[in-house]
Amino acid sequence: MKIIVYPTRHYIEERDIKDKVAVVIDVLRATSTIITALYNGCKEVIPMAEIEEAVKISKNYEKDTFILGGERNSEKIEGFHLSNSPGEFSREQVEDKTVLITTTNGTRAITKAAYAKEVVLASFINITAICDYVAALGQDVAIVCAGTFGQFSADDVLVAGALIHGLYNKNIPIELDDLGMTAKFMYEHSKNDIHGVLSQTSHYSTLKELGLERDLEDCLRLDTAPIIPIYSDGVVRAWHTNL
Ligand code: MLT
Repeated sequence: MKIIVYPTRHYIEERDIKDKVAVVIDVLRATSTIITALYNGCKEVIPMAEIEEAVKISKNYEKDTFILGGERNSEKIEGFHLSNSPGEFSREQVEDKTVLITTTNGTRAITKAAYAKEVVLASFINITAICDYVAALGQDVAIVCAGTFGQFSADDVLVAGALIHGLYNKNIPIELDDLGMTAKFMYEHSKNDIHGVLSQTSHYSTLKELGLERDLEDCLRLDTAPIIPIYSDGVVRAWHTNL
């Protein structure tokens, strides 16, 4: 299995990923939030790049059948129901509803990954399920880290490392690129102190300064939402797995 890790969505090209399974990661916080919403029973999630697009699409839905969520610069968008905190997307809020979401980096990475053969979303909260799923598929993988404001973000790379570490533990023959090797090394040396390591990084610090400590806890827990979110035809739906 060949694995390529992209530090941000800006590095991906259709020709590079069209024959691969894309695993999109925005652990702080977009993929963690989307996974949580699906785990809590929302019908589907529609990730969008732009605020205007989300507002326009929301007009096609009856009141109380959808949730408009997202952020810009990590803060709630005016007029939206919810921001981008996993804790907001509770069963009470989202069950049987369509979630329309737009975030600064994460939803843009998801929509750009659409060129891939199959697109799944990952975070720490579903990492074992994703690892089992990717191993069972047995195909080449493009790990697309969302990054932060177009820059490499250590939090996403750590999740990439956790996935690679898990695949190695299954004794699958793997061919890794340099960022993949770095991610694996970084995860293996930080797995017992994820908060300690990430607290020295930029996005973690920004969320902390905004008083979003609970989000950091929710996003960095392992395997609390063991589902496979599959993005296809513009929509993310959950595949509940017993693998
Ligand atoms: C993003 O998509 O850039 C992030 O999810 C930002 C955040 O809300 O922390």
